[in-house]
Amino acid sequence: MQSNVRPASMQRITTPELANAFIEEQVKLVREQVGDKKVLLALSGGVDSSVVAALLIKAIGKQLVCVHVNHGLMRKGESEDVIKVFGNALDANLIYVDATDRYLDLLAGVSEPERKRKIIGEEFIKIFDEESAKLEGISFLAQGTIYPDILESKGVKAHHNVGGLPEEMEMELVEPVKLLYKDEVRVVGEALGLPHHMVYRQPFPGPGLGVRCLGAITRDRLHALREADAILREEFDNNGLSHVWQYFVAVPDFKSVGVRDGKRYEGWPAIIRAVNTVDAMTATIEEIPYAILHKITDRITHEVEGINRVCLDLTPKPIGTIEWE
Ligand code: XMP
Repeated sequence: MQSNVRPASMQRITTPELANAFIEEQVKLVREQVGDKKVLLALSGGVDSSVVAALLIKAIGKQLVCVHVNHGLMRKGESEDVIKVFGNALDANLIYVDATDRYLDLLAGVSEPERKRKIIGEEFIKIFDEESAKLEGISFLAQGTIYPDILESKGVKAHHNVGGLPEEMEMELVEPVKLLYKDEVRVVGEALGLPHHMVYRQPFPGPGLGVRCLGAITRDRLHALREADAILREEFDNNGLSHVWQYFVAVPDFKSVGVRDGKRYEGWPAIIRAVNTVDAMTATIEEIPYAILHKITDRITHEVEGINRVCLDLTPKPIGTIEWE
């Protein structure tokens, strides 16, 4: 197993050539470590687990078993993308679990944010356990650990990381990108042929839209949030704003009065939040041009059933955290 310390001599991976050399070396190391045994990976569709999946598919093909749990709190199109890229294009051994009903039933009526996070995290572990119990001959667990996770293992990310796996899953770990920084993981992902949007995807919290559908989650409001968020992302992409560090919609659990087709039309507000940061400890507000804000407002209020207002969150961190809850 590789050490957890990045050697001072290790070159920063900044080019496709350096990425290819890294990939070649890791393919060899993984094959040596794993032999003809099977490896299990929780594939969320985030950058780190996706790059590890692509790397392991290259190294050991069908000996890798990927489990993607759709908790029903993914952004629009994300689970479909995982199936398209890994199940279809890369022909991975992919187990897709649609746990939407299970999660939304458990979360019904729960409004306290940390309780919501706990339910989402614990359910993930249960489902992952259930799925791995159905499989035979799994000897290794792959993880998308990256170097900042090792350096800050007691920091924000570890605390937040609800996608973590149970400690009692005592399998030897396969962590091929554990000595890399995020930017290097992205260069490696592109060299492995993963789509640009997957590799450069903005950070997305483990509990997903669950912490953006504020208060107790309902299916109709979650649906409205997902559609509004998809419009925001599309407009950011189309208007050269996809470099912004994190941009999303949150929908609170109260309605305001509106009017549509001459009739009273009550709906939820969609709150836009777009921030830039280096380490997520502090964040500044992206100044979105008004013309783009008008377009987004027009589209969300006309295209999304249940939303009748769009608000912009102008609060830096501190004082506001990036997520609303
Ligand atoms: P806050 O809201 O604390 O967020 O300013 C800082 C960064 O962490 C993300 N975040 C989470 N990530 N599980 C995660 O995996 C969580 O429960 C969680 N809560 C916040 C947030 O999106 C931002 O990038």
